This record gives sequence, C-alpha cells and structure tokens, in this order.
Amino acid sequence: MTIWQDDAGRDLVLNAGPRLALITRGEGSYLWDSEGRRHLDFLAGIAVTSLGHAHPVFVEAVSRQAATLSHVSNYFATPPQLALAARLKRLAGAGVGGRVYFSNSGAEANEAAFKLARLHGGTERPRILALENGFHGRTMGSLALTAKAAMRAPFEPMPGGVEHLPATIEALEAAIDDRVAAVIVEPIQGEAGVVELPEGYLAAARSLTLKHGALLIVDEIQTGAGRTGEWFGFSHEGITPDAITLAKGIGGGFPIGALVTYGDASDLFTPGSHGSTFGGNPLATAVADAVLTEIENAGLVENAARRGAELRDILLDIGSPLITAVRGRGLLIGVALAEPVAGEVVAAAQERGLIVNAANPDTVRIAPALTIGDAELAEFRELFTAALADVQASLPGKVSA
Ligand SMILES: Cc1ncc(COP(=O)(O)O)c(C=O)c1O
Repeated sequence: MTIWQDDAGRDLVLNAGPRLALITRGEGSYLWDSEGRRHLDFLAGIAVTSLGHAHPVFVEAVSRQAATLSHVSNYFATPPQLALAARLKRLAGAGVGGRVYFSNSGAEANEAAFKLARLHGGTERPRILALENGFHGRTMGSLALTAKAAMRAPFEPMPGGVEHLPATIEALEAAIDDRVAAVIVEPIQGEAGVVELPEGYLAAARSLTLKHGALLIVDEIQTGAGRTGEWFGFSHEGITPDAITLAKGIGGGFPIGALVTYGDASDLFTPGSHGSTFGGNPLATAVADAVLTEIENAGLVENAARRGAELRDILLDIGSPLITAVRGRGLLIGVALAEPVAGEVVAAAQERGLIVNAANPDTVRIAPALTIGDAELAEFRELFTAALADVQASLPGKVSA
C-alpha cells in the first residue's frame, strides 16, 4: 500500500471501492498519476469533461469568473446565469415559454423533475412511470426513480408512486392512464450498459403522455451536451418533451445540473416551492456557458457524431471474439462482451494506460471527451486491442477466434 492508498482507505467514506490511482493532473484526453504514469482517458469522468482536461476555455472561464463574482444567492440574478438559461433554452428548443432551474448535480436536477411531476399530478395523479434498468441518481427522490433493487434496498422505504416498466412501447401503452403524472426515461440507459430505447419509443411516449395528460421528462444527464452526436438524446427523435434534466457534460468538469421545462410545465414551480443555495451560482453558470459556447464554436457535436462513427468502426474492426456488439450513439458507446469480463477488460486497459469503465459485467463503457481526434483514436485502438487480447489469453478455450 502506498501512502495515498492508506490515506484513502482511512479517510474517505466507504461508498466506493479502492481508488485505482492518485490522479494529479490532466490535459486534453490525458491524465497523469502520482507515479508519473500517463493515461489515455476514454471515460472523461463518466461523460463529464466534454472539452477534455484543463481546456483553455474552461480554465479562462473559471479564473475570470472566480475573480469577478462566485456566489450571491437566489435573491439576485447574475449575467452568467441569465446567459446560460437563455442558451440552454435555445439549444433544447424550449422556446420563449421555457424555463430553467439550476442545480449542482444530476441527482438534484432529477429531484427537481420529481417535484415537477408531483406539482403537475397533485393528488389526482399519484403515479410516476420510469423504466426497468433506469438510473437517475442516488438521492432519495432520484433513487426512487432508479430501478436497481440493490441500490434501493438498504434505503427503503422510497418516496412512493414510482413504477418501473420494461422499456417497450407495449408496456407503456398497457400501464399509462389518467392517474399518471409523468413518464421519465433516459434516451440511452448509460448505467444499464449503454442501452438505447427501442426505435420509436420516445415518439410513442410523447403521444401517450399527451393523450393522458402526463408529463414526458427526459433524463439527458449522460446523453446531453452533444455526447450522442446531437445536442440531446431526444433530438434524434424529433419530439418535444415537457422537461429535460442535465448535468455532467454541460459543466465540462464544473459541478452543475439543470432542469429545462417546456410550455405549461414551466408554470408549475412557484416562489418557495423549490430551491438550492448554490444552484445557478455565477461561477458554475459562467463555466457551463463557456463550455457550451466552445462546444458550439468548435463543432464538437458534429465531432462527436463523426468520431463516434470512427470509434464504432475501430471496435468492430478489432475483430476480437470477445466483442459481440457495439451499442450507443456518438461518443457514448457500450462494448458488449461475450463473457462477463468487463471488469477484467477495464483492469487490463488500465494496466496499459487506458481508462474506460465497466457499466455492467458484460459491457465496457466508452465516453471520451468530445474533442478527440485521429491521434487519440489511434492510441485507443492500440491499447484496447491489447487489453482485449490480454483478457482473452486468460480465458483459454472460453472464447475462440
Ligand atoms: C442518466 C443519469 N441520471 C442521473 C445521474 C446522476 O447524476 P449525478 O451523479 O450528477 O447526481 C446520472 C449519473 O450517472 C445519470 O447517468
């Protein structure tokens, strides 16, 4: 054990396993650890550092705003907050009637969405429909929306009214009625292993929720900010939801979340009905506005689509018998494995200096910065091919070429 491992084992809460390395510095798609090892980061802090590490735009925005104004309170508005709200409304197509609530994380954005659903539903509509295998966060409300029994069990009872359905149009048709306040879905279930919704699901959910007077809330926390090769996951489907939740990539590494509402859903929160001391502070909103400006100016949504297609081709071209499918869109990719060895593949990759993660035992998740280019892809190919070969060599006879 090194000193930092001792410190981490003693001082950090035991909600996560042993830390893999002590990361001391980042630049672009690379991280360096305390032993001076360089890592190619194809996880981006789980779809967070959209511009890569220490991007000049990010650094300038943090420095400039920290030197100007970092926090007031929600008694006041600030220019960065208004600029970001207007930008998010424009990018998300929320129109003049749209509104933005700022939080500090994804789970908090979903807490706000949960309360939005309750405000809409009142006592007449106690039901909220979410999806099996869905993940929406770890706070009590967002955990109630999250399906995974093992995550929920120690914390029961959950806030009531949430039902989890299989992700099929038929299941939604069968379950929805006029007592449903909201349907909440991820366009691609990231934590479940980068699993896309079935073709036409969002369109069907839109028409069913309209028919029954329920809100359609899309959790874009992992899929938003250009990651899937469109600004948002729902943009691929051409629908207009009632609300979306955002976090992760919009801040590019600065903690921030948001709930964007559309149309009538924008009138549900009234003074005093919700709030957060830090939510919408000028520092976080200035950084997110700068990150989104850079994503727009540098064409990074288009880059995510193009590099995502190249990455997919690379993965299929590796020809490893361990790879059975490549799921996802843009730069949110799940590599489905023939054996439940995602943990081993991730460890082998880490040994070779490549960071990816195991979304579940059968799936390696890849979510690099939206800025990646030829050099990063070429290095990824080399390292990931080697990592797969390492694991395959340790599985004699199990998976043959
Ligand atoms: C789809 C989705 N919703 C919500 C969350 C929770 O976000 P946070 O970890 O910022 O609370 C996550 C995080 O992984 C997520 O992927």
